[in-house]
This record gives sequence, C-alpha cells and structure tokens, in this order.
Amino acid sequence: MSKQKSITELIKDAAKKSKVGAYNKEDATHKRKVAWPLDCNIGPGLEGATACETKIGYINGARGQMIYRGYDIFDLCANSTFEEVSYLLQNGNMPSEKQLNAYKKKLTEYRSIPNTLRTLLGFEIENMHPMAALRLGTNLMRHRLTWKDSDSARPLAEEAIAADEDSIPMETQPYGEKHAKYEFKKHKTGRPADVRTTTDDGESRDTCIRLISGTATLTAAIARIREDKLPIDPDPTLGHAANFIYMMTGRKPTKEEERVMDVCLILHADHGMNASTFASLVVASTLSDIYLSIGAGIAALSGPLHGGANEAVIKMLEKIGPAKNVEAWFKKKTKKKEKIPGFGHRVYKAYDPRALILAPLAKRLTADEHGEGSVFDTANKLEDLVVKTLGKEKGIYPNVDFYSGLVYRSMGIPDAMFTPIFAVSRVSGWTARITEYLQNNRIFRPRAAYTGDFGKKYVPLKKR
Ligand code: ACO
Repeated sequence: MSKQKSITELIKDAAKKSKVGAYNKEDATHKRKVAWPLDCNIGPGLEGATACETKIGYINGARGQMIYRGYDIFDLCANSTFEEVSYLLQNGNMPSEKQLNAYKKKLTEYRSIPNTLRTLLGFEIENMHPMAALRLGTNLMRHRLTWKDSDSARPLAEEAIAADEDSIPMETQPYGEKHAKYEFKKHKTGRPADVRTTTDDGESRDTCIRLISGTATLTAAIARIREDKLPIDPDPTLGHAANFIYMMTGRKPTKEEERVMDVCLILHADHGMNASTFASLVVASTLSDIYLSIGAGIAALSGPLHGGANEAVIKMLEKIGPAKNVEAWFKKKTKKKEKIPGFGHRVYKAYDPRALILAPLAKRLTADEHGEGSVFDTANKLEDLVVKTLGKEKGIYPNVDFYSGLVYRSMGIPDAMFTPIFAVSRVSGWTARITEYLQNNRIFRPRAAYTGDFGKKYVPLKKR
C-alpha cells in the first residue's frame, strides 16, 4: 500500500493546481504611489471603490491569488502556523523564535477569560444564534477587560473631529462634480495619544491579542453551552488550534486534526476589504473602540451571503442526498436561477485558492465515509457540475465555504459553529486592519444618491 500523503504534501499538490505559481511575483502596478483622491468607477454597495491603502493582504480574483504581507497563501498553509500568521498580520514581518514564543505566551495568558464566561452564562446562549452569542461575548470582554467607560477614557471630540460634511451638497448624484472641491484633508484623526497608549483599551497590540485569543475561547464555550455543557478551561500545553478543538469538543485532537484546524485558521485570517472587514473599519473610524468594531465585523460575517454560507452548504448537501441526485437537483436550481451556496465570489472569477486547499483536506478527513450516499461524494459531484457549466459561463467556482463545513464536521464540530470558527480566525485580520487604518484615520462617509421627492407638505394625522 502506498504511504498516505501528509497534509503539507496535499497543500503543495493543491498549489500546483492553481495558476498562482506563474504569477507570484511583484505586480509593478501595486507599487505605484496612490494619488488621492482616486478617480474610480463606483457601483452600488461601493463596488469598485478604493477606501484606503493597506500592506496587509492582497487578492487577485482573476488569478486566484491570495497574499498576506507578501507571503503566498499556499506557502503559509504548507509551512506556517496560525500563531505565526497572526503575528505576521499584526506586525508586518515574520517573528523570530523569541518573538513568536512571547506572542504565544500572551495568547496562552489571554485564553483564559473566566469572568467573561461567567457573565455570558447568565444569558440564554442556548437559544441564541452562536454569532449573536459571540458578538455578545466580545462585548462582555470589553465590559470586563477594558475601557473604563468614563469620559476621561474617551477620545476628545475636538481632537477627533473628522469632516462629516463636505463642501459640496451631499446625498446628490455627482452630476458635474468632477470640478467640485472635495475636502480631502491631510490631517490625521487617530486616537488622541493618551487613549492610544492605554494597554487595556483602543487598538493597542495587547488588546488585539486578547481578542484573537478570547474569540476562540468564547466560541468554544458557546458551542458547549448550546449542548448543555460547561465551558472547559484552556490547556496551557496546547497551541491555539489544538486548544480551540479541545475547549469545544472536550477531546484532545489528533495531530492531523490540529494541523488541519491550523490550516483552516490561516486560510480565513484575512481577505481584502470584504463586508465584515469593512464593517469593523467603519466602526473603528468613528473612534469607537476595538471591541465594538470587532462586534460589527462579527455581525456582518453572520449573513448567509458572507460567512454564513458554510452552514448553508451542509444543509444544501444533505437536502440533495446521494450523489446520484445532484444532476436533477442542479437542473431545477439553475432553471429557477437560484444561487448555490458555496459557489461564486465577488472577487474570484477563478478557483478560490482556499477552496483548492480545503477540498483535499475534506476528502482526507471524510475518507471513512466515502461512497454512494456520502456527503463528500455529493459535494464532489456538485463541484464538477458547477465548474463545467457555470465555471465556464460565468466564472463561478467553489469558494472557501464550500468545503470548510465538511472539514469541521469531520472533527465533531456542530454545524452551527462553522461561521463562528470563521470569526475566530478573521479576528486577526480585522484587528490588524483596524490598527493599520487608525494610523491614518478618516471617518468613513460615502453618500447615498437621493432619488426621492421634494416639496411635500406635512398633513396632520387626522387628515390623512
Ligand atoms: N450559484 C449560481 N449562480 C451564481 C452564484 C451561485 N452561487 N453566484 C453568482 N451567480 C451568478 C448570478 O446569478 C449572476 O448571473 P447572471 O449574470 O446571469 O444574473 C452572476 O453569477 C453574477 O452574480 P452576482 O450576484 O452579480 O455576483 P456577486 O459578485 O454579487 O455575488 C456572491 C457574490 C454574493 C458571493 C454570490 O456568488 C453568492 O451569493 N454566492 C452564494 C453564497 C456564498 O457562497 N457566499 C460566500 C461567499 S465567500 C465569503 O463571503 C466568505
């Protein structure tokens, strides 16, 4: 019998299937100095708009390319760990051994949040969607750990003022505004210095690490409370991924499970200016605090068009049943022009590199169940069919959510926890981007084009 490939080898094989190898070079156009204000075509939902500069992550949807701080995602998944990658995202460089050990020590220290969990237990978590519970939990962390909620801890309004109004009329379509004078102010509106340096508040590095570590503990606790079990204390001898599985399932993971969870956490850590990252930046830009900003990210991620798709995928696969049903089901769906969860992406019009990595991992972890009737076989058949038809026609391929649920399920993780796991990882990207954005803060303030009426007269209630 041939030797089974390691997870690293599976990832290296997946890398060969992507187009990235040929492209993983510097793209000269991205080294250009950004000359603000930009001239760009903007669609509804701000599609096409560039809101800020970043050095954190890059994605190229046509190539299926994804980079964190210059490192290719396949390279990171094959060789790195979540701890190292989250350090990279936060700090901009790979840590030395000493730096990594110090970072891990902090994650271990902050993993234990007994006071927050005690308060959380006072709520009806079992009846709440886990993303709502997670949002509540991060708020409780803020309440417990931070920010004295006193006026002295708040940014001073006069220092923080960012122009909410422009010199041109707002809420109108930009007719002839090419020549209008915008107030693209040079001045920075970051946190006042005294708030910035408070360890327990704002965007300080420690708070980011607290949130990265605490979100995993909260998610694991929520999973257990939903099953009428008490939260489990973290094990200081385990790393982030292993601890997360352990605190959630009560079982120490195998080496392979730990490695796969680590890869999943690396894969989901950051992804451009997606809806949840944008939501967290919008809140941060008002000089609210980082806990509330992360809460906004969690809220945005919970929707079925964003992070919520992974749960929808499993429900769909179960509804389809055995692989032999896929064709008939697919025909019906396409006839009704319905979207298929786990496929398509606003940015990727090629294979999402994350799906390329997750597919073989899902296959490996569900190997015992393969055969007619297995969920993996149904997924595989559906992927083939969609790629052959919609892939060619419209650039619709599997996205990150298509296989992640199968991976988590194979580890005994309940379906409702799939989206919170996304947040456990993405909190590293959110915090890194918030920290970066606040260095040169500008309150987000796009416009809406008013297409309603004018001149209506108020009619008293009794006369309507
Ligand atoms: N299944 C079938 N057709 C699709 C799908 C899909 N999943 N996604 C897009 N299309 C089709 C659309 O019907 C449309 O066809 P048309 O041009 O004939 O009208 C065309 O592709 C373009 O679709 P848009 O909706 O304009 O694409 P958009 O970029 O707005 O949508 C989105 C991206 C929201 C992710 C969409 O593909 C979708 O709803 N997918 C399913 C939900 C999902 O998996 N979300 C997770 C995304 S990954 C993430 O957020 C972590």
